[in-house]
Amino acid sequence: MRAGLLLIVPILAASACLPDRQAASMADEITAGQRLYAANGCGTCHGMTGRGDGPVAKTLNPPPRDFRDEGAFKNGVDPGSIANTLATGLTRDGGQMQSYFHLSDRERYLLARFVISLRESPTGATHE
Ligand code: HEC
Repeated sequence: MRAGLLLIVPILAASACLPDRQAASMADEITAGQRLYAANGCGTCHGMTGRGDGPVAKTLNPPPRDFRDEGAFKNGVDPGSIANTLATGLTRDGGQMQSYFHLSDRERYLLARFVISLRESPTGATHE
């Protein structure tokens, strides 16, 4: 009897607040991804807000991706594909998108979540 209750109570509690917890964990992923983005110097090329306007962007051809422009992506645009691009790099057209193979799968996934969050932010929003 007591053992049964111990099992049921946590299940009920967990399902009751699932939507909140999902929203919180998505926000946490994006924040963690943003930290990795800063720590790995992605902004040097892509700009701190991912507009493709980092300090060295003008020297690069093809230019670094503006993450707001989903249509400009050469590989897939879902989290798994972006994480994969980060593992392989993107140099087939002579571009200088290096490989981040030294990061963990989880870190590449978090970076992908942050990149996608920039695309999904409302147009016209200022990030400056
Ligand atoms: C040295 C400059 C540089 C740095 C640093 C850099 N990138 Fe890039 N990135 C590029 C360039 C250039 C391209 C475009 C390459 C092309 O079009 O062939 C690109 C493309 C991309 C793309 C688009 C891939 C596609 O499918 O088109 C993503 C996503 C991306 N970078 C994410 C990142 C992330 C995240 C980081 C940091 C972990 C990062 N980049 C660091 C230069 C850079």
